Formats: sequence, C-alpha cells, structure tokens
Amino acid sequence: MKNKSLISIHDITRDDYDIILNLAEEFEKNHRQPILENFVVATLFFEPSTRTRLSFESAASYLGAKVIGFTDAATSSVKKGESLKDTILTVSNYSDLIVMRHPKEGSARYASEVAPVPIINAGDGANQHPTQCLLDLYSIRKTQKRLDNLNIAFVGDLKYGRTVHSLVQALTNYNTTFHLVSPDELKLPSSVKQFIKDKNLDYIQYTDMAEVIDKVDILYMTRIQQERFSDPLEYERVKNVYILKNNMLDNAKSNLKVLHPLPRVNEITEDVDDNSMAYYFSQAKNGVYVRQALLSLILDVKPAKK
Ligand code: CP
Repeated sequence: MKNKSLISIHDITRDDYDIILNLAEEFEKNHRQPILENFVVATLFFEPSTRTRLSFESAASYLGAKVIGFTDAATSSVKKGESLKDTILTVSNYSDLIVMRHPKEGSARYASEVAPVPIINAGDGANQHPTQCLLDLYSIRKTQKRLDNLNIAFVGDLKYGRTVHSLVQALTNYNTTFHLVSPDELKLPSSVKQFIKDKNLDYIQYTDMAEVIDKVDILYMTRIQQERFSDPLEYERVKNVYILKNNMLDNAKSNLKVLHPLPRVNEITEDVDDNSMAYYFSQAKNGVYVRQALLSLILDVKPAKK
C-alpha cells in the first residue's frame, strides 16, 4: 500500500485487509507512538463529519504528524470558485497525504488521478467509504473472533448508505449470509447485490426488522440519509421506519452486536446504549487504530514491535 491511494474497498485485497487489521491490533495496544513526526497529513472535508475527520486527526496526532486542512469548504478558496483539481494540487504542495470527503461520487478517484500524494477517500457521495469499512471489519472480527461464515443484517438506508456498499462488498470475501432490511424505495442497489451473486452467496431481503433480529450475529443499523433525497416528502415517509428499542433484543443470539457507523438520528433508542450488545461507540473508537494502520502503511513507516 506504500504511497498508494485508497479510494474504494476494491483497491485492496483480502490479504491487505488482514495486514491492516493486524496492524490496527498493534496500534490498539499502543497508539501513542511518534513515528510520523516528519509528516504532514491534510484533511479536506467538503461535507460534514465528526468521527471520520476527528479519528483521522486523532490517529495522525497520536503518531506525531502535523495536521492541516479545512472542515468547511466555504472557508477555503473553493468559495471563490477554485476547482477540485487546483485545490488538490495546491494542498499536495503542503502535505504528504490527503484525506478527503466530498459529496460527489467519483471525486476521490478524480483527486487521486491528479494528486502527486496519496489520497484516502473519507466518503464520496453515496459511493464508497473504505476506511469505515475497514473499521467495521475490525469491529466484527474483534467481537465475533472471526470474519467467516457470519449472518449479518443491514438495516435502513441501503440505497444511499456508502458504508453499507463498501462493507457488503468486502464481506463477500468471507462467506457471509446477508439479511437486507429496508423499505422498498431504499433497497441495496443492484450493482452491489451483483457482488453477492458473483460470489454465489445468499441474500434475503426484508421490510420488517423484527424478522431478522434473532437470526444474526451482527445487526448493522444505518441512518436514513436525508441529505441524499431529492424529494423531502419521500424522506418524511421513511425517516422513522426502523427504530431499534432495547426490548427488541430480548431474543437475540448471545453473541449479537449492534453496529452503526453513526451519527444516529433516532434509529436506535438511547436505552439500547446500556445493553452489552451495543457496540457502536467502541466501533467508532476502533477507527483511530485502523486509521493509524492505514497512515503507517501508506506513508511506509512501521510502528515499533511491542
Ligand atoms: N461514520 C461516519 O462517517 O461518521 P462521520 O460522518 O461523523 O464522519
């Protein structure tokens, strides 16, 4: 992965996932290691973020790198009409690696084609969110002690949820059985379902979340993505369609973990937070270690062995 961009989960192989997750485990044991003291990491967020930006900045800071960037393109020269290409070429002069989130699908790939430094895609529209996918894999492996042969339910906005798209595609490497719960208008896109079919794996589509809870090892909840709807009435119709409450987990398998890429709006009630099956805040914490692993591998600086 040395000096390579990470734009899509397809840019890397299952062997790469193992390398990244194993290194993340090392960083989880010791995340304060100033191995990137001579590096500058830029974070360019053209769309809002809490976890992805701050966990990248936390990851880089614990490794000793300097962090520059913007959290609102309106405070940059983009506001004056500067193109994405010119922004990327300019910031490449000031940094060794760029982490970028942008609302337009394909923007991260384009940035990687013009940039002389590696680009990490922190989410491009409804397309891909590969680093979230890797921290999701890390969280699943950590809680289930394996990635192979799991039953995994994805619930909510499977159409626009880029974290779902990346994770479904990655999980096709692990003989996963997919339980896809969504309203008809927010089904998983055919292009993503094709990945499942290509691996001869099973997927079952549902509209009722109650049908899957006692069947699965992972319940991956998602937010209905208001910002991707062109018709506000359509959003109003589906926004509260799935709300997970604590008592709904009573008959779940004992190993079940509830994941959510966050932010949540109201699809998980707060009474679930105290249930030992709730894993979403730990999942977000795992993002620091996984992103440290990615920075270390792409910038080609190895951590000290413990
Ligand atoms: N999971 C995730 O991408 O969260 P943020 O939008 O807060 O970065």
